[in-house]
Amino acid sequence: MKLTSYLQWQKLQHPVLNDHQTELWLRYAPGNNPDISGNKILKLKYQLELALQQKSQGLLTFGGAFSNHLVAAAAVAAENKLQSVGIVRGEEVDLNNPTLALCRSYGMQLIRVSRAFYRTRHQQETLQQLSEQFPGYLHIPEGGTCEAAVQGVSELGMCTTPAGPASLLICAVGSGGTVAGLIRGSKTTPVVGIAVVQDQSLPEKIRAFLPADRNWPEWQLIQALHQPRYGRFDPQLWQFCQSFAEQDVQLEPVYTGKALYSVFELIKAGIIPKGSRLSFFHTGGLQGLKGLAYRGLIPTTESRPIKSAISPTTDSGL
Ligand SMILES: Cc1ncc(COP(=O)(O)O)c(C=O)c1O
Repeated sequence: MKLTSYLQWQKLQHPVLNDHQTELWLRYAPGNNPDISGNKILKLKYQLELALQQKSQGLLTFGGAFSNHLVAAAAVAAENKLQSVGIVRGEEVDLNNPTLALCRSYGMQLIRVSRAFYRTRHQQETLQQLSEQFPGYLHIPEGGTCEAAVQGVSELGMCTTPAGPASLLICAVGSGGTVAGLIRGSKTTPVVGIAVVQDQSLPEKIRAFLPADRNWPEWQLIQALHQPRYGRFDPQLWQFCQSFAEQDVQLEPVYTGKALYSVFELIKAGIIPKGSRLSFFHTGGLQGLKGLAYRGLIPTTESRPIKSAISPTTDSGL
């Protein structure tokens, strides 16, 4: 997989940044295919390499009804002439929603399973059963997070912006693999992860990717400050996302938009000090916008009102 060389960095403009003498650089990882851009291209890079090396039949992975990861895995498999199977959480899930329809358009076979079965996805017995059903498939965990994914993200290069060294690296956190990669890829620049899920075990999951025998840069997890529950957002957050459109910056409100909103709150509160130069990883996930519009959670056109409180859906992602 090649990273294209255009638009790897973009300096964000905003009055809050001017007022607080803060620079904010968006770091992109654009792939040739937008469905595999952002953290996905990096998280899947070595897993794809392994699948090709061991001549796997295909990729088998797991995700929710609107999972960005499922789409990326389906797209990566199709581009590399591999089969793909997606184990989808929830027997009732609509296979015609834009995310799953996109997966199917890449040839992914989708298997809807009960939530009870889905919870056993890490268990040896379940994995064995899936291996028997789909022999020769490489298993990729939910969200793509594993050692190979962390290694892939660590190679992004977030520490030096076009204006010079960053003082802080920042990204949205779901399963923790991406932020672990940023920490691993930084020698001394501190890292802040903005958790968009509520998961008490996240620090432990991240630490598991950072062996104790090395000194890691300082890092911290902060719960998203506004609408902290996964998949929840309100008109204010959605408007914030849209306010960058004129700079050609597209944000979705579940991961990148929510994390960036928190960054602005931290800047305004003086927690991120004046004079900072921030390097923020734009992790992609823009296919998710179609799923939000499909559910009526964002307007498809400016004229449609948006629901004021988004119903939670633990099914939205990962
Ligand atoms: C667009 C987007 N950003 C950020 C994340 C969080 O990445 P991670 O699960 O590695 O913490 C995800 C997760 O799946 C995502 O889809």
